[in-house]
This record gives sequence, C-alpha cells and structure tokens, in this order.
Amino acid sequence: MCGIVGYIGYREAYPIVIKGLKRLEYRGYDSAGVMIYDGESIKLSKTKGKVADLEERASKEITTNGTIGIGHTRWATHGVPNDVNSHPHLSNSGDLVIIHNGIIENYAPLKVELIKRGYVFHSDTDTEVLVNLIEEVQKKENIKLGKAVQIALNQVVGAYAIAVFDKKNPDEIVAARLGSPLAIGIGEGEYFIASDASPFIEYTSNAVYLEDGEMAVIRLHKEMKVRKIKDDSLVNPIIQELQMNLEQIEKGGYDHFMLKEIYEQPSVIKDTYRGRLHANEGIIQMAGVEDNLEKFLNADRIIIVACGTSWHAGLVAEYIFEEFARISVEVEYASEFRYRNPIINSKDVVIAISQSGETADTMAAIKLAKEQGAFVFGVCNVVGSSISRETHAGAYTHAGPEIGVASTKAFTTQITVLTMIALRLAKAKGTLSQSDFHMYLQELELIPEKVREALETNDKAKEIAETFKDAPNCLYLGRGYNFPVALEGALKLKEISYIHAEGYPAAEMKHGPIALIDEQMPVVVIAPKQGHYDKIVSNIQEIKSRSGRIIAVVTKGDTQVRELADYVIEIPETSDALSPLITTIPLQLLSYHIAVLRGCNVDQPRNLAKSVTVE
Ligand code: AGP
Ligand code: GLU
Repeated sequence: MCGIVGYIGYREAYPIVIKGLKRLEYRGYDSAGVMIYDGESIKLSKTKGKVADLEERASKEITTNGTIGIGHTRWATHGVPNDVNSHPHLSNSGDLVIIHNGIIENYAPLKVELIKRGYVFHSDTDTEVLVNLIEEVQKKENIKLGKAVQIALNQVVGAYAIAVFDKKNPDEIVAARLGSPLAIGIGEGEYFIASDASPFIEYTSNAVYLEDGEMAVIRLHKEMKVRKIKDDSLVNPIIQELQMNLEQIEKGGYDHFMLKEIYEQPSVIKDTYRGRLHANEGIIQMAGVEDNLEKFLNADRIIIVACGTSWHAGLVAEYIFEEFARISVEVEYASEFRYRNPIINSKDVVIAISQSGETADTMAAIKLAKEQGAFVFGVCNVVGSSISRETHAGAYTHAGPEIGVASTKAFTTQITVLTMIALRLAKAKGTLSQSDFHMYLQELELIPEKVREALETNDKAKEIAETFKDAPNCLYLGRGYNFPVALEGALKLKEISYIHAEGYPAAEMKHGPIALIDEQMPVVVIAPKQGHYDKIVSNIQEIKSRSGRIIAVVTKGDTQVRELADYVIEIPETSDALSPLITTIPLQLLSYHIAVLRGCNVDQPRNLAKSVTVE
C-alpha cells in the first residue's frame, strides 16, 4: 500500500501533487517524495517522514515550478524507511523517474543481472531495480518509454502501480498496473494519475480505472492510449463519471476503514505470500527464516510474545507449529512475560508478533528475551518499526496500513506468515509427508479466493446483527484451531460494540460457563466440518438443551448443525489448520455490523488506541 500521484497539464504540478499525497497518506506514510519537470531539468526531493516533512525539505531543496510532476508516499516493503529508499527513484542515467506501489517479487535476480551490466544501485528497494530495467530495455532496443515499459514489465513478477517519466521525452507520463490500484483523471487539457481518485476529484470527475495488466501512455494535448502490457494491444478504456466525495474515496467507498480492511484481506493475504510461497514448485522462501533456519531447527521450544489480536494469532500458530513442525510452543501475553521472571535460555526462539511494531509490552518482552540469550524473530506489519529493528530477524506481513483500531487484516496476514514459517520448518524436519506439505501449500494459495467467498456472508452477518445488537453479553466457542478464533471474535465484539463477550474452548463450557446459558445469551459457535466436528455438535446440543441462542459458523452444505442452530453462517471448506483464516471473516463482519447498529465509533472505539506504546 502506498500513494502515487502524477500530473501533466497546464497547471503548476507541485501543489496538485503535494495535496494529492496528503490525501493518500492514509495508504502509507513512512516517507514521501516529489519530482517536478520544469521544462529543462528534473527537480527531485524526497525524505523519510510525512508529506509535511517533504514540503519543508522541498521548499529548501528545489524550485517547484513546472507543469509535469509525480509524487509518492511510501509504505515500505523492501528497504527500511529512509531518504534513499524513498520514491521517486531515478535510473542510472538520471533520465527516467519512477514511483511505484507494490512488490517486485523477482527484483533480486533482475538486480544481479543489471549489476553485471554495469548498473549501480543506491537504495535497497525493488523499485529502483524496475526503473533501471526499463532503462536497460530502452537503451538496448532504442525505443520510446511506453514500449520500454511494456517490454520490461513482461519480465517482472509481482504487483505494481507505477508512473514513469523520461526527461528525453518530457511531454508524457507512462502508467501501468498489476495488482495495485491506479486511477487516471481526465480533465480539459490535463491528466491526473493516482492510487485512488481523491487527489483529482476536485478537478475532474471523469476517470479511467486501469484494469490489471493494462498500461497507459499519457501525452499532453493527445488522446491517452491504453494498452495491454502482455501484447501491447490497444484497449478502449471506459471513462467513468465519479459520484463519490473525498471521504468516501479514502475509504474506498466503504463506510469505515475497518470494513475496507476486512474486504482487503483476500488481496493482502496474497501480497503477504507473494514471492514467498511457490506451491507448484513446493517451495517456501522467506529470507529471515532461511538465514536462521538452524536456530529454529535446533530450538528447544518457541515462545511467542504478543498482545491482543496478535496474541490470538500467536495462539493459532501454537497449534500450527506443534502440528506441522512438532516443535514445542508457548504463547505468552507480553505484558505478563516481561514481569514474571520467565526462564529463557539461548536455545529458545522467541517470535514477537505486532501489527504496529510499536507495542511497549511486546518490545519489553523482546528486550528481556534478548538479554537472556534467546534468538528473537519478529512478525510485524510496519517496515522499520521499533520492534522490527529490535528483533534479530523477521518477516513482514504485507497488509498495508491498518487504520481501523480493531485489527482484522493484520490477524489473517500474521497467521499467513506464521503458517509459512511452520511449513518451512516441517519441510526441513520432515515432520510432514511430502503430500501433506504440498497439499497445504496448494490450499494456502487458494485461501484468498476462499476469503473472498467468506466475505459474501456479509448480508447474513448484518441480518444476524439486527437480532443481537442489544444483547448485553455474548459467548464465543471454538475447539482446536478455532479456539483462538473464538477469543478473537469475542475481542472484536467487545472493542467496537462495547458488548461484554468471552471466548472459550467449547469443551470448557461444562466446567462452569454453561451456568450462563439461557435464552438471553447468544452463543457463537465455530463449527467447521474439519476438526472435532462431532464434539462441537455435542457442545451445541448442551447449549440448545439450556435454551441458548446459537449462531453457528459452519462449512457450506452442513446439515447437522443447521438442525440445531438458530442462525447459520456458511463458509467455504478448507483444511482444519487453515480454517482460522476463513472462520474469522464472518465474526469480523458480525461485530462490525453490531457496532454500526449500536452507533459506535467503529474506526476509533472509545478508550482505545491503534498502537499501545505505553505500559
Ligand atoms: C486488536 O483489535 C486491538 N487493536 C489490540 O488488541 C491489538 O491487537 C494489540 O494492541 C496489539 O497491537 P500490535 O499488534 O500492534 O502489537
Ligand atoms: N516495494 C516498494 C518499496 O518498498 C513500494 C512499496 C509501496 O507500495 O509503497 O519501496
């Protein structure tokens, strides 16, 4: 996730680009940069920090007059947030300038080849490789920018929304997209390029949303040409007249960031395994794990430290690591771990999970573990965050900025990373059969589509929410892999609707909590076909016999639970171990709709902060 903005027309480009970047900062904000072409030369300024920091620096560094410009606000994936890694990036010749949203998966081999051909690199980003690949193609084929971009992108694997400028041919900008959004605003004698329409909605409501695999050559005073990257064939673009206002655009047309982020899960889960999971080849490739594989394999145990939703992801990981890699796992609340004088030794591997990478309790737990000699591995969503810098190694989720305080896409992308680590260890230890290993890789690759299918339960969740929005309490029950999902579902409901909710292992009900059951108590039961199904059916019968009102999350086509439950939400089938990635979806939607119906502030619930940087 990040924000890209471009302008070519008759107005001063700088103010349009800067204001556009500010509107896109919600998409990523660890660094920013701008390039203006003043008719003779490229003026470029970029800095770690926010767009306001860029404005201050640019005012001192460059003259900003010019009617062509591009800008970028970054959400780093390759290369920590610093000035050098900020976009725009120049090619070696200094003629080409690029801004990029996405991930170039095969940047490393491309970089090796370009270095052999004499290219030098100043940043650690994948983006700088792309702009030099385009330069290399242009030089070799002696062609214009548009054709060079088209040829280069056919050598690239990954996701991108890019805008490229060539000083040698300064009356055009080339844009292209695959996997990341890109909108083109069409004005009178002017064009706008952006990650969404918010930077140009005040100038024009006519927009073309490039489709995946399309590129556009945008020339001043000429008609824009849209082509397919694959074969350079012309496309007849559909010009839409936008009806959305600014706020609606920032939320992608959703009413809240939380709902937008719930719906982003198919794409961000895919972004998270992109370049790491190669199901057909039976390969999982994660640099942070490969470089420290022996530490994981020789570990006496894995200790997971986290808070809140990240702790729930850690609990899912406990089941997965122990099942797949047969390695002992303990999951600790970081806030408890840091104070209870735990026994840690140098053969322990500690995995710290944190969306923000700034949670004080988790940071303290990491420092304690390091002091006692443990190897600490981070799973964070923010590149260059404090926790990602404090840990010995790590693997990022690629969920993009999570604005809603209630964590949703962070949870599913954390589980995706942790599952890949467990599978990699299982392969190294031979604790999974080859066929099971391949089955899980194939199934993991199918998860984004299954999550997309699970999102279709939204209307059902909304309907159920109408019934239970005034319930004073709620119980969430699950078994095995879905016990942590029960905890997570209860947390979601608590934190955004302020209804008291508890998650429990379903079998634990008879040890006390079943006394709570009556017709006033809604009970959400996670009962997918895989994993202790018969046992959970018995638990449902126990609740039913005490007049409990049952909302069941079941595998599509289920008949047995349907007979017992008052409400049924059907989700696609997957393996037991991967089911949390699917079963959590209707619970996110249910809590969202209940909170909305209760008039709660869904994105900023009372008393909460997105990142708890205090004890
Ligand atoms: C979850 O919805 C909450 N926002 C909260 O529990 C959160 O998961 C917890 O504070 C940990 O945050 P972190 O992942 O950024 O470390
Ligand atoms: N992968 C590029 C980088 O890390 C772009 C990241 C983004 O989308 O902001 O610089």
